[in-house]
Order: sequence, then structure tokens, then C-alpha cells
Amino acid sequence: MDREDTAVLVEEPVHIDSHLDGAEERTLAEDVLDGLTRPFKELPPKHFYDARGAELFDRICELPEYYPTRAERAILEERSEELAELTGARELVELGSGTAAKTRVLLDALQAAGTLERYVPVDVTEDMVRDCAESLVDEYPGLRVHGVIGDFERHLRHVPPTDGPRIVAFLGGTIGNFPPGSRRRVLREIARLLGPSDHLLLGTDLVKDPSTLEAAYDDSQGITAEFNRNVLHVLNRELQAEFDPEDFEHVALFDREQEWIEMRLRARRELTSEVRALNMTVHFDAGEELRTEISAKFTPERVEADLAAAGLEIVRWLTDSEERFALTLSRPRAGRPA
Ligand code: SAH
Ligand code: TRP
Repeated sequence: MDREDTAVLVEEPVHIDSHLDGAEERTLAEDVLDGLTRPFKELPPKHFYDARGAELFDRICELPEYYPTRAERAILEERSEELAELTGARELVELGSGTAAKTRVLLDALQAAGTLERYVPVDVTEDMVRDCAESLVDEYPGLRVHGVIGDFERHLRHVPPTDGPRIVAFLGGTIGNFPPGSRRRVLREIARLLGPSDHLLLGTDLVKDPSTLEAAYDDSQGITAEFNRNVLHVLNRELQAEFDPEDFEHVALFDREQEWIEMRLRARRELTSEVRALNMTVHFDAGEELRTEISAKFTPERVEADLAAAGLEIVRWLTDSEERFALTLSRPRAGRPA
């Protein structure tokens, strides 16, 4: 055995790279400067997920009204064995991995198939990547975890190369949080992580009756409202803003034309807040709204067209028994440009 082999054998099971540094605070500052000075105020959704936001999101996933998590889990429970067989994946890369709760269903199937070697979670929330990596190596003997703390819009080049077939998973309908144009750009970037024997596993929520959709984003316990307002706590802490989150009402509306849920914060009264770190004053009229997120709902045609635009073809279209949510397995179309 030569020295290199020895080095591989003693490799630590957990390896974490962080690509968030001062640059990340700059993007929050830039997003606030840009988004809160527009005629229609807007902030990108990734700033929801500090430690408190991540915890609130976990509670959203348990809510009776929030069906997407349960529906996606049901599909995984039903079809993971088939996914493992179709892909032969040795590696699972997951974008926006969070606590990887549903991911374990897929990891179980890959382990049972005997192919699983490495899991690569990619998320902006540092503690989640670290905690999740530590738990998974305990739960899955022999598994290596290479965590990437970073922004999946900016840091995909830091996903380590692979020498075996892999699945890149993007679950939870998070792709729907991008407006249609950026969605295609993001899918194109993700497709660049795929070699000829790799697959993308994409979770998308499906178009359905507006009352079910609106309830999923405006639950009776007010957890989603608290999650939405959390972005103001983030601005207060990170940029020394002075918002009173209770001055804002949570609004979730299904836009029937665009077929997306729109999440907004509506000022209950006229107000101003200093954002001291940016030397900026923000004014809201009474009733003025700040758009915090869209969550696009898909038809099979829309998923197919978006994947095709990224050079991907569908291998399996999987839905739950009530057709509320879809998981799509796709692969690079033969002859696509690199
Ligand atoms: N995949 C999990 C979590 C979905 S919530 C599930 O299906 O339940 C969305 C996750 O994406 C959060 O963990 C959040 O921290 C992460 N996230 C959001 N925007 C991100 C970005 N731009 N880059 C990396 N991670 C992001
Ligand atoms: N990606 C999830 C979704 O679009 C995130 C989410 C669920 C969310 N509930 C929310 C984001 C409420 C903001 C507010 O379904």
C-alpha cells in the first residue's frame, strides 16, 4: 500500500468548507439597499434562514396546512428504492439541505443498495450544515460528508468533483422561490454539476386549488407569519435596523395568473426605520407592502420545459397519490453543449 492510499484511509469522515465570509454580509447589505429603495419593496428569501428562521421553518414543515413536506416524503418513501436502482449513485449532493430530514429516506435506499459513499450538503446556514454532517456520519457508518457552507446561486463551483455516479437533489420546492427567468439560470448552473451518468432530483409543488395553497402559507397558528417577519429580526440584528416586526402583517396570496404564492409583509401604519449600518432611512406608507418571497407552483409541462432549457431530459416523473407535489428525476440530454 503506498502513502496515498494510507492518506485516504485515515481521511476524516466530515469535511466542511465555508464560503461565507464578509462577502455574505455585503450581499445582505446590497440586497437591502437595492430592495428597500425600489418603488415596490422586495427582499430575496435566503435572508429568512438564520438560526431562528431555520427553527421556524422546521415547525412549518410539521404544520397540518403545510402539505409539501409530507407529500414529498411520501414520494421518497415509495420510490427511493427505484431511484437508487436507476441512478446507482455513490454520491448525493443536496442544495438547500437544511436539516436533511427527508434526505435520510434517500440515503437509506442508497445505503441498502450498497452504493452510498458520500453526501455533500450545500446550505447558507452554517450550523445546519455542521450539525447535520455530524449526525449523519453517526447514523450512516462509513459515510463521508463534505459540507459546503455557501450560496447555491454563487458557490456551486465549490461542490467537489466526483468520480462516481451522483444524484444532485434540490428538494422542498425551493426552486420555486426563484422567479421564472432566474429559475432557468439556476437550473442551468446546477446542470453543470452533472456528468453523463449523473441525475438531478428536483422537488416541485404543483398547481392546485388556491385555498389549499394559501392555507399552506398562512397557517392558523401563525408560524408562517412569524417566519416571514423573521427577516426583519435579521435586518435589525445584522444591519442595526429598528423595525418593530409587529408593525407588519403577514400576507400570502396565490397569484392565479403567474401561478405562484406571493409572501408579503404589509405595514399596519405609516412608519420609518433607520438602517444604521447602511446610513439609510426606510419609509413605509400605511398598507405598503414588502415582497419577501414567491413560491411558484408547477404543471408537468412547466417542469419539463424548465429542465429542457437546462439541457436535461426527464427519466421519471413521480407524484404522491393526491398529485400535490412532484419529484422529477432527469439527466443530461445526450449531445448537450458543455
Ligand atoms: N431541503 C429542505 C429545506 C428547504 S428550506 C426541505 O426540503 O425541507 C430551504 C433551505 O435552503 C434552507 O435550509 C435555507 O437555508 C437554504 N437556502 C435558501 N436560500 C439559499 C441559497 N441562496 N443558498 C444556499 N442555501 C439556501
Ligand atoms: N421553499 C419553501 C416553499 O416555498 C419555503 C417556505 C415554506 C416558505 N413556507 C414559507 C418561505 C413561508 C417563506 C415563507 O414552500
